[in-house]
Amino acid sequence: TDKTTTAKAHTNIALIKYWGKKDKILNLPTTSSLSLTLDEFYTETMVTAGKEDTLLINNMMQDPTRIHNFLDFLREEIEDFGPLTVVSKNTVPTAAGLASSASSFAALTAAVARYQNWDLSLTDLSRLARRGSGSATRSFFPGFAVWHEGHDNQSSFAEALPATDLPIALVVCEIAGTVKKVSSSDGMLRAMTSPKYSEWVEQSHVQFTAMQEAIANQDLHKIGELAEENALAMHELNITATDRRFTYFNQMTLDVLDFVKALRAEGFLAYATIDAGPNVKIITNQNQAETIKDKLQEKFRKLRLQIATPGPGISFED
Ligand code: DP6
Repeated sequence: TDKTTTAKAHTNIALIKYWGKKDKILNLPTTSSLSLTLDEFYTETMVTAGKEDTLLINNMMQDPTRIHNFLDFLREEIEDFGPLTVVSKNTVPTAAGLASSASSFAALTAAVARYQNWDLSLTDLSRLARRGSGSATRSFFPGFAVWHEGHDNQSSFAEALPATDLPIALVVCEIAGTVKKVSSSDGMLRAMTSPKYSEWVEQSHVQFTAMQEAIANQDLHKIGELAEENALAMHELNITATDRRFTYFNQMTLDVLDFVKALRAEGFLAYATIDAGPNVKIITNQNQAETIKDKLQEKFRKLRLQIATPGPGISFED
């Protein structure tokens, strides 16, 4: 047959980060995390029968071995299926430091499940995608989503928070320059050797609850403040790791962080969050995003800037 199934998943940015595993096989995180799904960046994945598992991916950011292993994991976990051709299109800019593994593994999980007619809820899909990449757990849901850390396979899944019409926006700053590449998986392993790690976990629990409250109260300042605190503390773990300390920051990262602080002093709504790379994402509202983008461009000519807004959950086309 030449049946095909296509799923589209948007990437997400964590406002309360996942940065550590308490179980590497099940991929259980040390903390619950909270994210915003983004409209502008997504992965569209088509699956169809093939002679052997074949991956055709437009930008090869993803480790192919990891994808092959994940297909085999699905065969073991749910039900065996024949070889697949996987064609994947990514609009997540390669250098933007947005987790393309989030949208990739979410789209792949959803596409295979639909192709095989598995009767699974979004929550079930999020549990499966978790095994491919942790951040993918959250990419099935529109707007704000939470990934409950859980204590076993069943209890570690994501769900959407109640919908809000919060006018949140991100100014995504693509920072050029070379930084030593440390994968998220390796980075968090190292971070867990920091003497500050257990303190970060405790603080993260408190921030996770406070963030949900701030979202319910539509308090964008509080959301930004908590996200920035959480992210900077995560990056402090990398520097204070006792096993192979490292940083994702470069000088431009620091300069942009200073600029964000200066914007706040001028009365702007601007807070920063940073993931496994040098890029800064500025949390603001939809009214101020353009002005902030222009001011950044004027100050840092070389920055590539893009505005992102809340996006939809998973969708299908077949
Ligand atoms: C900094 O989901 O890429 O973006 O589970 O090992 O694939 P693996 O890690 P990954 O880690 C993402 C880390 C982060 C924070 C976050 O998205 O919560």
